[in-house]
Amino acid sequence: MASSYAAVYEAWKQDPQAFWAEAATAVDWFTPADTTFDAAEGVYGRWFVGAQTNTCYNCIDRHVLAGRGDQVALIYDSPVTGTVEHWTYAQMLAEVQALASVYLELGVTRGDRVIIYMPMVPQAIAAMLAASRIGAVHSVVFGGFAANELATRIDDCTPRLIVSASCGIETARIVAYKPLLDAAIDMAHHKPDHCLVFQRPQCRADLQAGRDMDYRDEVERAMVADVGTPCVPMEATDPLYILYTSGTTGQPKGVVRDTGGHMVALLWSMQHFYGLKPGDVFWTASDIGWVVGHSYIVYGPLLNGNTTVLYEGKPIGTPDAGAFWRVIAQHGVTALFTAPTAFRAIRKEDPQAGLIEDHDLSSLRVLFLAGERADPDTLDWAETVLKVPVIDHWWQTETGWPIAGNPRGLGLLAVKHGSATVPLPGYDVRILDDGGHPVTAGTLGNVVIGLPLPPGCLPTFWNADNRFRSGCLEEFPDHYKTADAGYIDDDGYIFIMARTDDIINVAGHRLSTGSMEEICASHPDVAECAVIGIKDAIKGQVPAGFLVLNANVSRETADIEREVVALVRNRIGPVAAFKTVMCIKRLPKTRSGKILRGTMQKIADGLDWKMPATIDDPLILDEIGAVLHDRGFARRTPGN
Ligand code: COA
Ligand code: AMP
Repeated sequence: MASSYAAVYEAWKQDPQAFWAEAATAVDWFTPADTTFDAAEGVYGRWFVGAQTNTCYNCIDRHVLAGRGDQVALIYDSPVTGTVEHWTYAQMLAEVQALASVYLELGVTRGDRVIIYMPMVPQAIAAMLAASRIGAVHSVVFGGFAANELATRIDDCTPRLIVSASCGIETARIVAYKPLLDAAIDMAHHKPDHCLVFQRPQCRADLQAGRDMDYRDEVERAMVADVGTPCVPMEATDPLYILYTSGTTGQPKGVVRDTGGHMVALLWSMQHFYGLKPGDVFWTASDIGWVVGHSYIVYGPLLNGNTTVLYEGKPIGTPDAGAFWRVIAQHGVTALFTAPTAFRAIRKEDPQAGLIEDHDLSSLRVLFLAGERADPDTLDWAETVLKVPVIDHWWQTETGWPIAGNPRGLGLLAVKHGSATVPLPGYDVRILDDGGHPVTAGTLGNVVIGLPLPPGCLPTFWNADNRFRSGCLEEFPDHYKTADAGYIDDDGYIFIMARTDDIINVAGHRLSTGSMEEICASHPDVAECAVIGIKDAIKGQVPAGFLVLNANVSRETADIEREVVALVRNRIGPVAAFKTVMCIKRLPKTRSGKILRGTMQKIADGLDWKMPATIDDPLILDEIGAVLHDRGFARRTPGN
């Protein structure tokens, strides 16, 4: 089919308000909007002001009311526990209604925050939807974060309730969540009134009398009482959730998602970008702790009446590199969405994809990749072994849905490997130089989006309008700064190449090297340090720390390096994958004292590099090259 992309993008450009008003008809509203976009509200304007709706109603109730209660809403596939469960929309409704009534009994009301710190179990999705049902604002915290990160989030969003589980299950170990939760609450200044704990047989948690309740006991009691908790009408501009993401300091940013615009944008994307019809089986192999999981494991598919797959496992090791093929075949998956790192991991274990032969993948129509740049090599391999279109698309926690991609629902455009393809309606993507001037086609620069951002994108950071303004809107007036660097070619295709800040992308996980540096520097023997992201064949990037020790330190450097690794793991969590640390005599700096992280990264990655003209001590780069060489990283001499 010829793509209607150009006409649709043009229609949006001509009249953005009419475009989104039309898209909004896919949502069930209790009260329609007074105005589609009010530029006078919020930090840069607000969408669907005056409208009332409820996200849980649109995700579940309306499908049940339309007679589709028996359709499977959720397939829970957990190779780590040997479980497969099918939840219909009607069963989801029963669980969510009961849980919502438990929330109310525990004193949670409209506007209160609920933190959800859970593994990939159906009850985590119920916990999100139950909050939305009664107008509470949820904040899901990824299970791979340590207690300290959880404590920061508790203090920032001050939840009345925390919903958690006794444990998560990683390939090689059981992660007891409750000790982490207890430690986080001890550390935090704010204390939740209650914790609701989902007990799993692999590791049961001790409950603290008065504060902690058993999830299953409470929900079963509420089901018997059958109070039928109704959906609370919410303003379209009310927050649905807060999702913390790495910023450039140790203080994470609480990205706020609104109620109405979020649904409009996700429904538009499900139909016109992903090209999925109600009933199609959509599998997003990510985690509900990330934005990809929020938008395309939970909200997008349920809003659109799809069957979503919740997979508690890994691409390899649960049990092998054929796991993805088994899930696709067993559940008739129509579309798979994951990060390129998952395919790199599978390819390493099974380079010829021989394990595909054991499975019937005829249901699969398309693979979507995001979370990090899809390197052309991986994309090529995925196309060859799956024999379906492979679509790279680019977005971020802040936007909540794709900024650029190849819109399958509008008819695919020609693919260019290495490019995220074209901007989607709603996004006026431009490339500016550091002075804010547009650059010519093909020139690398700052990728920015003209304001206003479309529905679904963040209106602000939680309790931090000024941080949002100063971090995202001030550097390039009238534009939102994505903090990505890239270029647009002569055909209008977007290439996203790197970050312009200290964020690195580790296995599709967004991490701040600045926050790792803060932790390294807190070790008593460390005088100063630098953390950079270096190339990794599977994870894309991994962090590497360079430490300069205090002058009087006489301890073994290997001991200090081990302690620093443990410190980062304990403070940020295993997800940081911080395993490479080396002590060096001095950090390479410019004469004005700026650490030359970019040059260090090039040396580590074995790329050509030039001796910076402003370096204060050129010899130090040789030492860094030698240390990296000893640790098995590539090394070259300067280009001139
Ligand atoms: N709870 C507790 N620990 C967790 C966790 C969770 N939810 N998720 C990850 N971890 C731990 C892992 O066990 C690992 O610990 P280790 O250092 O003891 O081995 C560490 O955090 C790093 O995890 P990860 O980066 O996922 O590495 P991995 O080696 O376990 O797996 C991949 C690598 C590529 C297989 C994996 O990252 C993956 O499947 N990625 C798929 C894409 C994805 O989820 N992207 C997210 C955004 S789209
Ligand atoms: P997150 O907020 O965790 O989703 O991370 C968003 C960041 O990941 C973006 O700002 C990019 O740096 C990177 N990213 C996500 N998807 C892509 C992609 N398709 N191509 C290049 N970079 C990407």
